[in-house]
Amino acid sequence: MHFLFAAVFLLVLTLSSTQKSARKCPKECSCDDAKLAVACVGKNLTEIPPTADEITVKLDLRSNNLQLLPRGAFVHTPYLTHLNLQRCNIVEVKEGAFRTLGRVVLLNLANNKIEILYQESFDGLSSLKELHLDRNRLEEIQPGAFTQLGFLNTLTLAHNHLVYIPNMAFQGLQNVKWLRLSHNSLNNLAPEAFAGLFALSRLSLDHNELQFFPTQAMTRWARLIDTNEDLICNPMAYLGEESVSMAKLTHLSLHHMSLQDLSDQAFSHARLLSHIDLSHNQLRYLEPLSGPKELSVLNLTGNPVYCNCYMRPLKEWAAAGGVKLLGACVGPPHLSDEPLQAVTGPDLRCRSRDEALEEEEEENKGNGTVTAKPRQQVKCLPNSHHATCEDRGHTKVPRGFPTTTQLLDLRGNHFHVIPSSSFPGTRQVVSLHLELCKIHELEGGAFQGMKNLLYLYLSDNNLASLDPKAFAGVPKLTYLHLEGNGLSHFPGSALLLLPNLFVLHLERNAISKLEPTGLLSSVAPTLRELYLSNNTITFVAKGALSSAFIGTLLLDSNQLTEVPTHALPEAPNLEELNLSGNPVCWVGSKAFQPISQSLKRLFMDQMGIEKMSKDALLGLGPGLKALTLRGNQLKKLPDLSSLTGLEVIDLRDNPLLCDCALLPLRRWMENMKLKVTATCAQPLELRGQQVRDVNFFKTCPENIAPSPAKSKTFKHTALRSPGVKTRHLV
Ligand SMILES: *[C@@H]1O[C@H](CO)[C@@H](O)[C@H](O)[C@H]1NC(C)=O
Ligand SMILES: *[C@@H]1O[C@H](CO)[C@@H](O)[C@H](O)[C@H]1NC(C)=O
Ligand SMILES: *[C@@H]1O[C@H](CO)[C@@H](O)[C@H](O)[C@H]1NC(C)=O
Ligand SMILES: *[C@@H]1O[C@H](CO)[C@@H](O)[C@H](O)[C@H]1NC(C)=O
Ligand SMILES: *[C@@H]1O[C@H](CO)[C@@H](O)[C@H](O)[C@H]1NC(C)=O
Repeated sequence: MHFLFAAVFLLVLTLSSTQKSARKCPKECSCDDAKLAVACVGKNLTEIPPTADEITVKLDLRSNNLQLLPRGAFVHTPYLTHLNLQRCNIVEVKEGAFRTLGRVVLLNLANNKIEILYQESFDGLSSLKELHLDRNRLEEIQPGAFTQLGFLNTLTLAHNHLVYIPNMAFQGLQNVKWLRLSHNSLNNLAPEAFAGLFALSRLSLDHNELQFFPTQAMTRWARLIDTNEDLICNPMAYLGEESVSMAKLTHLSLHHMSLQDLSDQAFSHARLLSHIDLSHNQLRYLEPLSGPKELSVLNLTGNPVYCNCYMRPLKEWAAAGGVKLLGACVGPPHLSDEPLQAVTGPDLRCRSRDEALEEEEEENKGNGTVTAKPRQQVKCLPNSHHATCEDRGHTKVPRGFPTTTQLLDLRGNHFHVIPSSSFPGTRQVVSLHLELCKIHELEGGAFQGMKNLLYLYLSDNNLASLDPKAFAGVPKLTYLHLEGNGLSHFPGSALLLLPNLFVLHLERNAISKLEPTGLLSSVAPTLRELYLSNNTITFVAKGALSSAFIGTLLLDSNQLTEVPTHALPEAPNLEELNLSGNPVCWVGSKAFQPISQSLKRLFMDQMGIEKMSKDALLGLGPGLKALTLRGNQLKKLPDLSSLTGLEVIDLRDNPLLCDCALLPLRRWMENMKLKVTATCAQPLELRGQQVRDVNFFKTCPENIAPSPAKSKTFKHTALRSPGVKTRHLV
């Protein structure tokens, strides 16, 4: 008996001691061997502890200082199911960071500083159920970011900086039920933004900057029956016809928006609505709503409803259909504060139509608000901050906007000419939309007085030239959109009046030359981004680009026949240069040397380049992050060996000649972490094969283009691991 006891005891002892010696625990962490959990919380770690035991299933790294998650960051712990990376100061998640984590069900990345989700950021997380990304700095979700997450059911993206959701952004998430996008800066959703979210039953878009009901994006999404709080606090001013076209919707909440008006047809395709909450908006009148047959509550609490004869049709409609109207009258004086439910038809009077309007005008005098009139007469829809008069057929700029207006949207009207001082009393306006207004002339001082204007959209008009004084009086202007006009010259002299210009859009004009006179250096010492795509530029003169500050220059789809090397020394901070789609046959030696210290992204696709000097890229080094040469006529490539920092490379669609001269390329490819796609076109027997796969390089004499350190490695790494995917620029 005693013996047995002792034996068991001994066995237990041996077992636990062998187990103990087998487990590793990183010194900064505490480990719970029974639960296979490792916690290293608040240790200011700058890297993932490489010594955590391989069989760890729960890894808690909250509150550290990781900054970057590299590719394959968790290869040492392939059995993880729970991974917590909150508050780790993470700025970037490299593609493939989680590739080895096929068992993780919960990943928490909230409270970091991530800005972009790359195409393959979450590759490998094939079991993931919950992904938390709230409270980061996300501005961009690249298409395909979530394609591998077919089991995900919860995704949180609240409190980020998203402005726009592109088509198919969430493709692959067929099991997500609730998508939280609250508290971003969304002002636009592509029509197919939510395509592929087949299981979605709830979508939270509250606290964004949607100015229009996202009809198209929401219509796709058939299962929704209740919007709850999901759309509140967006600055929507107007709901147009058929805005809300969700056939199964029963409860719609649109409170705390900026609704000034809504079409009586706004809900005509939402026939099952039983509750509509429009409380805390700016509605003064409402017409009977067509569509909903079972409406029981229409909540107008907190709206400035004016109870005169124009409200009578609504009241009668509500009485007939058993709709309860919640809210109270703000006027006329004898009815103010009277509950809508209590006022009767005969109370709702106008002495005569004109008298009534006069009475109201009187009441509003000096109030800064535009006179409220029945809907037929309201052409613009101002509220305290946003005024929308889009596509209203105006031929003159309307006046009388509230002095507090910050966003003025006049796009789609037919102004033809904007005379001087067209915007009196709009000194608070920050953003002015005048796209598609058939404008062919801006008189000097057209915007005079708009002291706070930062964004001006003049895209897609008919401007062939600009008056030198066109931008007088708007010294703060920072973002100027002039794309899609007929400008034949760079409008240098007009820009002289804009000392704070930062981004200038001139795509799709008819500019044919960039000349030094009146150009960047004098004009806009602050200019950072210049967009000149799709003009007819044949020539960039020396001195034309002189700007100490310019970082982004898009010259794609022009008529340049050579790289404008001679003009580059004056742009010493250029980081991004797009020359794609210019008919350049030949790129000479040191073509980019003047900007080699600053250049990070160089795009030269579809140019018909037949030859590049071996030294064409001389001077460029690890600083270059992206290089594209897709769709040219290159048989040989220039020396790429110094480009060790590339994250994106695209060499596809070139007729490469695979002979020993390509050996340096092959070696370079083997040393890069990226899988590079480059296809042989010649000789015939190698046509179609990948440069990285062909074997004949072994037979090349070693002394061709010696590459000292790595000269032997190529033989042993003929094929790269199959898990590494190609990265192309999308
Ligand atoms: C955390 O580490 C960084 C450098 O890795 C150091 O500068 C910082 O002082 C550390 N903070 C704390 C609280 O230890
Ligand atoms: C109507 O709106 C008010 C203010 O938002 C809210 O307090 C109230 O609960 C709403 N009533 C109904 C029945 O929706
Ligand atoms: C001005 O408008 C506010 C509501 O915006 C209203 O309360 C006030 O009575 C108006 N003042 C005058 C003088 O009509
Ligand atoms: C330039 O023009 C081409 C062809 O018309 C078009 O596909 C492309 O989108 C345009 N690019 C820009 C930036 O406008
Ligand atoms: C560069 O220009 C080409 C041709 O217009 C365009 O397709 C591409 O999107 C541009 N790339 C970037 C990064 O702007």
